[in-house]
Amino acid sequence: MSPLVSLFLLHIVTASAAQLHPGYYLGTCPKAEAIVRDVMKKAFTKDPRSLASIMRFQFHDCFVNGCDASLLLDDTPTMLGEKLSLANINSLRSYEVIDEAKATLEKACPGVVSCADVIIMASRDAVALTGGPDWQVKLGRLDSLTASQEASDDVMPSPTSNATFLIDLFGKFNLSVKDLVALSGSHSIGKARCFSVMSR
Ligand SMILES: *[C@@H]1O[C@H](CO)[C@@H](O)[C@H](O)[C@H]1NC(C)=O
Ligand SMILES: *[C@@H]1O[C@H](CO)[C@@H](O)[C@H](O)[C@H]1NC(C)=O
Repeated sequence: MSPLVSLFLLHIVTASAAQLHPGYYLGTCPKAEAIVRDVMKKAFTKDPRSLASIMRFQFHDCFVNGCDASLLLDDTPTMLGEKLSLANINSLRSYEVIDEAKATLEKACPGVVSCADVIIMASRDAVALTGGPDWQVKLGRLDSLTASQEASDDVMPSPTSNATFLIDLFGKFNLSVKDLVALSGSHSIGKARCFSVMSR
């Protein structure tokens, strides 16, 4: 690759990483947000619990090396991904809702909308459709090409973590106590396994 081309690519990558903004797809896929909202409405009708699952999805993606859809990557012979990490194995669900949103977007505007943004839009919609607030999301994220089970196991809080530990952990991500309470509150809809509450 010539230095000029790599400089150009570098520029694109830095620019797209730096310019998250609402309406990011207005020029390239104007119906993107409407398409995702529509898929989420259908998911709600089919399986109301899926909306709670999708909210959890965003947190589990973003907490591990950022909101980059690394959570969606399957294991390969050389990479252990996040799907089977302690926080996700046998509990993270509704992958098929994200897949359906992405498939519908690919039909409307192939190769335009990132999976990372699909997760962000879908979880915003999940909050709105379950009676929470609705808001504009900043878009323009890029998808990761790698995932790390180890990173997920290292950073995801355990159901037994105490308040001091959680406040400190969230602080490392510049998330306030208020953010921690809001995120924990969003875990209070849906369904949990006994194992995650028994220690309380
Ligand atoms: C909270 O959890 C941390 C990490 O597991 C532990 O070191 C600390 O002693 C706990 N604090 C209390 C008050 O239980
Ligand atoms: C937290 O905020 C500080 C100050 O704005 C910034 O330097 C740091 O990079 C942020 N950390 C994270 C994880 O976002």
